[in-house]
Amino acid sequence: MYKLLFRLVFRRMDPEQAHHLAFRWIRLAARIPVLRTFLAAALAPRHPELRTEAFGLRMHGPFGLAAGFDKNAVGIDGLAMLGFDHVEIGTVTGEPQPGNPPKRLFRLVADRALINRMGFNNDGSLAVAARLASRRPVFRTVVGVNIGKTKAVPEAEAVADYVKSAERLAPYADYLVVNVSSPNTPGLRDLQAVEHLRPLLTAVREAADRAVPGRRVPLLVKIAPDLADEDIDAVADLAVDLGLDGIIATNTTIAREGLGLRSQPALVKETGGLSGAPLKERSLQVLRRLYARVGDRITLVGVGGIETAEDAWQRILAGATLVQGYSAFVYRGPFWARTLHKGLAARLRTSPYATLADAVGADTRKAA
Ligand SMILES: Cc1cc2nc3c(=O)[nH]c(=O)nc-3n(C[C@H](O)[C@H](O)[C@H](O)COP(=O)(O)O)c2cc1C
Repeated sequence: MYKLLFRLVFRRMDPEQAHHLAFRWIRLAARIPVLRTFLAAALAPRHPELRTEAFGLRMHGPFGLAAGFDKNAVGIDGLAMLGFDHVEIGTVTGEPQPGNPPKRLFRLVADRALINRMGFNNDGSLAVAARLASRRPVFRTVVGVNIGKTKAVPEAEAVADYVKSAERLAPYADYLVVNVSSPNTPGLRDLQAVEHLRPLLTAVREAADRAVPGRRVPLLVKIAPDLADEDIDAVADLAVDLGLDGIIATNTTIAREGLGLRSQPALVKETGGLSGAPLKERSLQVLRRLYARVGDRITLVGVGGIETAEDAWQRILAGATLVQGYSAFVYRGPFWARTLHKGLAARLRTSPYATLADAVGADTRKAA
């Protein structure tokens, strides 16, 4: 049914407009109590064996919605209703900004991929913090808050911009993510270099502790798939050294590998980050490398090209405690989380592992 809806409605629309329409429908459904209860029961059935704990937070399962879908924290309940076990909002920047001019989102349908150069269009940390403060959650779901740099802020003042967001948003965040990996803000990915990343993460940690004195908000960093192997190792070592809670691997790629022969050449040339199926292999490699380096000392979150339960399972075996996705939501629709959960629970049952936690990193350990 969704395939038909996609073909007849969404595919004929500009991808960003289609996103707004679909998200509006999700939010609308979540506002109608009878419908929301029905949909949550149908789409977010709980599989007790998938219960997951990550950085001290208990979740119904390991699968969440990656950052970028709900940049402004306007539809968390609707997304939880569809079965995402955690929702990462953002990226939120210190100041509000419009992002890049449209068109800025492209569908590579034959590749089950997207290219985006949204450029952190968002309402800014003050407005998003106010929205989260006044939120009356219907569903109990873990909310991650992903923060990034305001484009107009010079690179020399980047730390202060992140600190501003952290101070405002940490009180409402179950976990906080420092995003230094979007390809669409000039210079942002340079912050992944350890000499920049150390002071940035240290300052954000202190800001979160100042803002929330009674609770240590888990802090994660999100990295790009385009880092060289030695840079991945350097970030992993830094994360251990700083006592970071997690690493999210990965954001979108500037590479154009993994595209099929049927991809539209004009779209492939668009500037921006590529996500979806072509990213699968590289994200998995980065995750394996991270797990081989940090083991169980740091929680890893696998994201990039996850479409099926098997993909999610492979990430868990590679070392991910949590998994996330975005692009496949566009192509697979509202039943995606449900199908993935069902498949994951079945996969676990037929595996040699008693719990998901036992499976985390099993393949990477074996290969070592
Ligand atoms: C349209 C779009 C917007 C995104 N915006 C953000 C963002 O604001 N912050 C961020 O950390 N990641 C952002 N991402 C990256 C996703 O969170 C995810 O890391 C990436 O798409 C890989 O996962 P996927 O292959 O399942 O889509 C965005 C992705 C897409 C497709």
